[in-house]
Amino acid sequence: MLKELEQKQKKISVIGLGYVGLPLALAFAKKFSVIGFDINEPRIELMKKGIDPSKELDASAFEDTDILFTATPKDLQQAHFHIVAVPTPIDEHNNPNLRPLLGASRSVGGQLKKGDYVIFESTVYPGCTEEDCVPILEELSGLKMGQDFKVGYSPERINPGDKEHTVEKILKVVAGCDEESGNVINDVYAAVITAGTYKAASIKVAEAAKVIENTQRDLNIAFMNELAVIFDQMGIDTQEVLEAAGTKWNFLKFYPGLVGGHCIGVDPYYLLHKSKKLGLNPQVITSGRRINDDMPGFIAKKLVQKLIKKGKNPSDSKVLVMGITFKEDVADIRNSKVADLVKELMQFSVNVHLTDPHASPNEVAHEYGLSMVDQVSTNYDAVIVAVKHEEYKNLDLAYFKSVMNGAPILYDLKGLLSEMPKEENLDYWRL
Ligand SMILES: NC(=O)c1ccc[n+]([C@@H]2O[C@H](COP(=O)([O-])OP(=O)(O)OC[C@H]3O[C@@H](n4cnc5c(N)ncnc54)[C@H](O)[C@@H]3O)[C@@H](O)[C@H]2O)c1
Repeated sequence: MLKELEQKQKKISVIGLGYVGLPLALAFAKKFSVIGFDINEPRIELMKKGIDPSKELDASAFEDTDILFTATPKDLQQAHFHIVAVPTPIDEHNNPNLRPLLGASRSVGGQLKKGDYVIFESTVYPGCTEEDCVPILEELSGLKMGQDFKVGYSPERINPGDKEHTVEKILKVVAGCDEESGNVINDVYAAVITAGTYKAASIKVAEAAKVIENTQRDLNIAFMNELAVIFDQMGIDTQEVLEAAGTKWNFLKFYPGLVGGHCIGVDPYYLLHKSKKLGLNPQVITSGRRINDDMPGFIAKKLVQKLIKKGKNPSDSKVLVMGITFKEDVADIRNSKVADLVKELMQFSVNVHLTDPHASPNEVAHEYGLSMVDQVSTNYDAVIVAVKHEEYKNLDLAYFKSVMNGAPILYDLKGLLSEMPKEENLDYWRL
């Protein structure tokens, strides 16, 4: 396969050109001939012009690449090594929503030929590739997996907004449905992933490895959030505690925070779903999720109590919330816990002004029904810095005081100010 790809007798297809699929497709297209397929035609039109609709890559990433951007499934027939990188979200009940993944399996299945490879990159629960996707591939192609075509799994580990750890620079786990396919898949990825590859023992092992990477992070942050709630009651600053504890060589460096986005706060639900299907009821993972999901409510309640203590009526109060994206320096607002925080405050009739230098006001209105202010005003009763965007890093205490009234409350959730201000008339709090 590798030789034929190198000689451009065969092509790679990437299905789903989002945060994961597009950088991967372009990395492969520097060496091989690639078909980039996505069902979203407006996105395809932008990519044809060298624009990344997810705003992660600049135009230079499209240079010197051999890639056809298409929304026509039939074009997948030209390819022999298909990589599926579509979203794997959860529904309103926190259950896996496999619709995009099964839809992509149908698109590939309809065009599959003998000798083809299909590699799944989307984050799933162990067993999903073989139990949910392969039957669709077999049914639509009339071919048999293992005999006529091969399947593999290679999870993605990119980190949105991170310009340093780009796809080629992150060690990649790969797995095939048998030893031979594992080797072939490994060789193809190794041709572009400079950081190297790791051959997992099976597809299920690779699926499980990915889902626990993010679950582990979720749990570590949940522990920090639980500590933040405890220490808040004790009147101790959590950051100062973590700094002191962090002087021990084996203390793990995690921090409290709002866990949003489409990976860390989502992937544990995939593992929970599969566990529950097997009659298990994981306690630690469930608790971690609940703690992290409860944080917006905790912060909102704390702020409203503070407003009342200061003699301010919440319904007459004006609060500025800075940042709504799920993390710093990205435009992605999916599963933003800041939106939950804003809605909680609005439940208390607080007048919230929302601002973010990266988020699109249209997307925020569409996704959450929240409007953003064009300009930051003055005379706020409180300011919440919810996301540590680069643009905010040079704002100092004088700035925050200048936009607040005489009884200022600053909730610096991510510890934007390096020093804890000790001013008497300022109520400063960080997670
Ligand atoms: N974003 C990350 O940082 C990241 C990191 C590691 C793993 N992952 C995982 O990778 C997968 C993809 O995530 P993403 O962030 O790139 O998603 P995304 O939402 O950015 O992009 C997905 C793309 O797939 C397209 N799509 C949806 N259904 C399709 C279909 N049936 N056929 C073809 N295209 C389809 C969408 O139009 C979109 O362009 C998910 O499983 C995610 O959990 C994401």
